[in-house]
Amino acid sequence: MLLLSQSRRWNTGATAKRLLAQARRWTADAKAGIPHSRPIVVLGIETSCDDTAAAVVTGDGCVLGETNRHQHAAHEAFGGIVPSLAASHHMASVGEVVRDALRQAGVGGSGGSGRSDGLAGIDAVAVTRGPGMAASLCVGLAAAKTLAAVHGLPLVGVHHMEAHALVARMGRGGAVAFPFLCVLVSGGHTLTAVAHGVNAYTAIGATRDDSAGDAFDKVARELRIPWLTTQDGGGPGAALERMAAAGDAARFAMPVPMDKSASAASPDFSFSGLKEHVRSLRRANAFDPAIPRDQADVAAAFQRAAATHLRKKTALAARRARDMGVAITCIVAAGGVVSNHAVRAALAAVAAAEGVPLECPPPRLCADNAVMVAWAGIERLRCGLTDAYTIDFIQRWPLEALKGTA
Ligand code: KG4
Ligand code: ZN
Repeated sequence: MLLLSQSRRWNTGATAKRLLAQARRWTADAKAGIPHSRPIVVLGIETSCDDTAAAVVTGDGCVLGETNRHQHAAHEAFGGIVPSLAASHHMASVGEVVRDALRQAGVGGSGGSGRSDGLAGIDAVAVTRGPGMAASLCVGLAAAKTLAAVHGLPLVGVHHMEAHALVARMGRGGAVAFPFLCVLVSGGHTLTAVAHGVNAYTAIGATRDDSAGDAFDKVARELRIPWLTTQDGGGPGAALERMAAAGDAARFAMPVPMDKSASAASPDFSFSGLKEHVRSLRRANAFDPAIPRDQADVAAAFQRAAATHLRKKTALAARRARDMGVAITCIVAAGGVVSNHAVRAALAAVAAAEGVPLECPPPRLCADNAVMVAWAGIERLRCGLTDAYTIDFIQRWPLEALKGTA
C-alpha cells in the first residue's frame, strides 16, 4: 500500500518537473566547471554587519549546515551597532562559526575530535564582499580568502543586497524567474530595483536619508523598547513590531513620508521625517515611553505609516518597471524589515494590484544570514563568476554597479 501510494506520488507531473529542473541545475553546475554526480556544495560566510554567520548550501537549495551568532547583547547597551565592537566579535567568532556550519553539514568533518580535516566536500567559498562596515567585512573576507586559497577552491565575492534578493530563488526550481522587482529593506538599505538576471540590476528607488531599519531602530529607542533576541534576527525592529501588535495605530497621527506634491511621484524613500515626528511628539510630551499603552500606540502608528510609505513607493517602482518595458514575474521582498508582518501585508497588496506573486524568504532568511551568501555564490558560479584570492572589500557598492552576465 505504501509502495503504491509512493509510486503514484513519483508519477505526478510535479515530480517530473522537479526532476527535470534538478537535471538542468546539475548541468549548469557541470558547466560551471564542477563535474559532479551531485549538486555543488558551497560554504558561505557573512560578516558585513553584526551577525557572524556561516552556512553550507547545495546547488539544489538544501541547507546542510548553518550557524549565526547575533551580537545583539553586545550592542544593545550602546543603543545601536558599534563598528569596532562588531569587528572584534566577528574576529572572536568566525572560526568557530565556520567550523560549526561545516560540522553540521558533515563535510570537512572533525569526527568528534573538534579538529577539522579540511574542506573535503566543499566546492567553493562565497563571502560577503560589500557593502557594509569596513572592519567587519574584512574579517569574513580574510577568512574566506584564506580558506579558499589554502584548499585551492573557487572564491566568490558576493554583494550583500544581491544575496538578499537571490535567496528568494533558492530551492524554488525556477519558480522565481527573472526579471523581477526587488524591494530590499534592511538596516543598511532601502531600495527598489529590477533584477534582470544574476549580476544585472537597474536601480529604481533609494532612500534619500535613513534606511527603514534605522528608523525602526531609532523609534524603538525613543520608545525605550528592549531589544528582542530571536532565531530570526530580532533586534529593536522586531521588538517594535511585537509592541505594535497591542497598539491602536489611529491614536497618534503620523505623516506618511513623501506623500505630498513634488515628492509624491518619486519612487524614492525617506524615513528621517517620520523618525523626527516621533521625536517631536516625545519632546512635546504627547506620549510617555514609561507607559506601555503609549509605547504600543506610537509603535503601531509609526509601523503603519512606514508600511504605507513602503507600499506606495513600491507601487511606483512597479509602474516604473512597466514604463521601462519590463514585464516582472513577481515582486521579491527581503531584508530584515521584511520580517515585519505589516510590511509584508503592505507589499502583498502591491503585488496583488500588479497581478504577480509576492516572494518573501522566510523571516530567518530575510534578516542577515550566510545561507543567502552561499546561495548567491551558487548562482554566480553558475554564471561563471568567480573572484581572485586578492579581492578587497567594497564598503559602498551600488547594486547597479554589478555588471550583466550572459
Ligand atoms: O537585513 P538586516 O538583518 O541587516 C542589514 O543588512 O541591515 O536588517 C536589519 C534591520 C534592523 O534595523 C532590524 O531592527 C530590522 O531589520 N528588523 C525589523 C524586524 N526584524 C528586523 N524591523 C521591523 N520589524 C521587524 N520584525
Ligand atoms: Zn542585510
